[in-house]
Amino acid sequence: MAIQITVDEELLRIFAYLNYRVPRTRKEIFETLIKGLQRLEYRGYDSAGIAIDEDSDKDHKNGGRICLFRNRGKVKALAEELYKQKLLDFDTEFEMHFAIAHTRWATHGVPNEMNSHPHRSDKNNEFVVVHNGIITNYKDLRTFLESKNYEFESETDTEVIPKLTKYVYDNRESEDIGFSTLVERVVQQLEGAFALVFKSSRFPGEAVATRRGSPLLIGVHSKYKLATDQIPILYRTYNNSKSGSTTKTQRIETENVKCLHPIGEEKTVEFYLASDASAIIEHTNRVIFLEDDDIAAVADGCLSIHRVERSVGDLASRAIHTLQMELHQIMKGNFSAFMQKEIFEQPESVVNTLRGRVNFETNTVVLGGLKDHLKEIKRCRRLLLIGCGTSYHAAVATRQVLEELTELPVMVELASDFLDRNTPIFRDDVCFFISQSGETADTLMALRYCKGRGALTIGVTNTVGSSISRETDCGVHINAGPEIGVASTKAYTSQFVSLIMFGLLMSEDRISMQQRRKEIITGLQSLPDLIKEVLSLDEKIQLLARELFQHKSLLVMGRGYHYATCLEGALKIKEITYMHSEGILAGELKHGPLALIDKLMPVIMVVMRDPCYTKCQNALQQVAARQGRPIILCAKNDEESMKFAYKTIEIPHSVDCLQGILSVIPLQLLSFHLAVLRGYDVDFPRNLAKSVTVE
Ligand code: AGP
Repeated sequence: MAIQITVDEELLRIFAYLNYRVPRTRKEIFETLIKGLQRLEYRGYDSAGIAIDEDSDKDHKNGGRICLFRNRGKVKALAEELYKQKLLDFDTEFEMHFAIAHTRWATHGVPNEMNSHPHRSDKNNEFVVVHNGIITNYKDLRTFLESKNYEFESETDTEVIPKLTKYVYDNRESEDIGFSTLVERVVQQLEGAFALVFKSSRFPGEAVATRRGSPLLIGVHSKYKLATDQIPILYRTYNNSKSGSTTKTQRIETENVKCLHPIGEEKTVEFYLASDASAIIEHTNRVIFLEDDDIAAVADGCLSIHRVERSVGDLASRAIHTLQMELHQIMKGNFSAFMQKEIFEQPESVVNTLRGRVNFETNTVVLGGLKDHLKEIKRCRRLLLIGCGTSYHAAVATRQVLEELTELPVMVELASDFLDRNTPIFRDDVCFFISQSGETADTLMALRYCKGRGALTIGVTNTVGSSISRETDCGVHINAGPEIGVASTKAYTSQFVSLIMFGLLMSEDRISMQQRRKEIITGLQSLPDLIKEVLSLDEKIQLLARELFQHKSLLVMGRGYHYATCLEGALKIKEITYMHSEGILAGELKHGPLALIDKLMPVIMVVMRDPCYTKCQNALQQVAARQGRPIILCAKNDEESMKFAYKTIEIPHSVDCLQGILSVIPLQLLSFHLAVLRGYDVDFPRNLAKSVTVE
């Protein structure tokens, strides 16, 4: 019988908790896991699971057999089910315990108990694993393991991992193989992208985690001072020597493992492992970001990190970072959805992007992250702006002003298409990688592609410690604060502002541009107030949404600086309202889209007083001539445009190249209200994830 194998993709999240000499009841451990998973809920999922210890020895010092609980549906349902079943004594106390948890959102296969994580090695749950990412060679591994009589119970790629772990363990050369060495051998057989956390009844109270291409971080909490704020990396190298017909692999170089542990006799410590910081920030703000191929292990309350090979440029240690993010920053506040909160945060998020960078007195810009590379950037022959979705739209929105201010050719690229084309890249190119999450797989791969060809790489991200921010040569952090709604809003306006600041920086010494620079800098200063003014249109936009929400389709048309607004507005609408929506370049109208226009088709037209104004008027007339009833997004008191309007949304005036920051906001609000009226979950649109960590 052919087995249908699903591939677990990006829609998986990890949370794990280890307490060492910090007595915790099973109920407390369980609640920590549930809360951790709930903090990751905003990323979307359809099933959840946890693995905790059964009772073992009398005084419960160590864990025993591992229990798995997995469920289709919400984390809350998993919790309720567990309490209802009363299979375990929740008052049992553990001095040391390691528990893992996971949420999954199926993309290909059915969401059910068996496909949910943690996955297990066998019916005794000897090794259990949670995984974020994709194992591309799972078919070969599965065929191999099946030939060794391993029985598979799920349709996932992940299940090969615990089974392979058991296989390697059962066939170990030496009795005293450690847990981290075991995992090291397993991951050497894996291809693809992954973040993995392993738990085993063979190694009670121990945790092993590793990553390749998917994010994973470890939070540490202790009431004692930590022994170090840098964890040195232990490198293991192997020597292959032939003895008789067999090849033996020996470890020839070891060091005393230097590890992270608290100072003090008690050495009490708790570790939290997660795919993203929002799950651990309420427990600790001290975190270690794992790098690709790091193998982190906790044993006897000590965290050590090892790698198999040292490559040129590898850092010799991993720093413990102190996160500045507060939990309240990621909560909804008085808003009904994260997306709504984030739209309304834009007056502040834009200020945070500008803070400390633009001096409005001297009309100068400092971007600390680019300082050391500025000379090299100024020598380049062209700029490439690369991203996906909304981040790509931020590139489209700023292309024109960057061309103007830098006098360089500027290419904007969708990361996936850029890779498909094997685009030629030269050593004197400067490539920007724009990404809110800093983890988007296509953008990250495009970055590696450009780096490999010797171009200078610049990250524009919102996530400190993300893969893109770490792997680029330099960068600009957009400082928009955590963005939780899947639909990106405040990140877009902050990316926009960041790229404008880059243009200003590049043109600082051009005399001929001083007037224009001054105009833009003054425009940036008044942005927060203008954004507030646009946000005050919310009620009017909600009324408009009431008229539109039952339509099937909504076109958004414009040109010049506002083409990006149309693309971004249409993306917001389709993403959370599931209506068909298209961003149309008004210059293309007569080349096809005009055929869509009639009196029933809702059309939003962006017509601003900029160099494209007359051309937009022309488009407006063409639409009106086909009985179209355009809703016009225009400048205040634009009587000329209003003549053709079925409805108008008037927004305040800014500098032409900044106007797109204002014109996108009514469309963000409109998409939000449409989604609410259509009864959809605004923050968790179907089929989408906040951070897309696979191609
Ligand atoms: C925007 O609303 C989308 N959720 C999506 O297009 C997003 O911008 C895209 O996936 C890129 O994400 P990134 O900015 O994190 O790289």
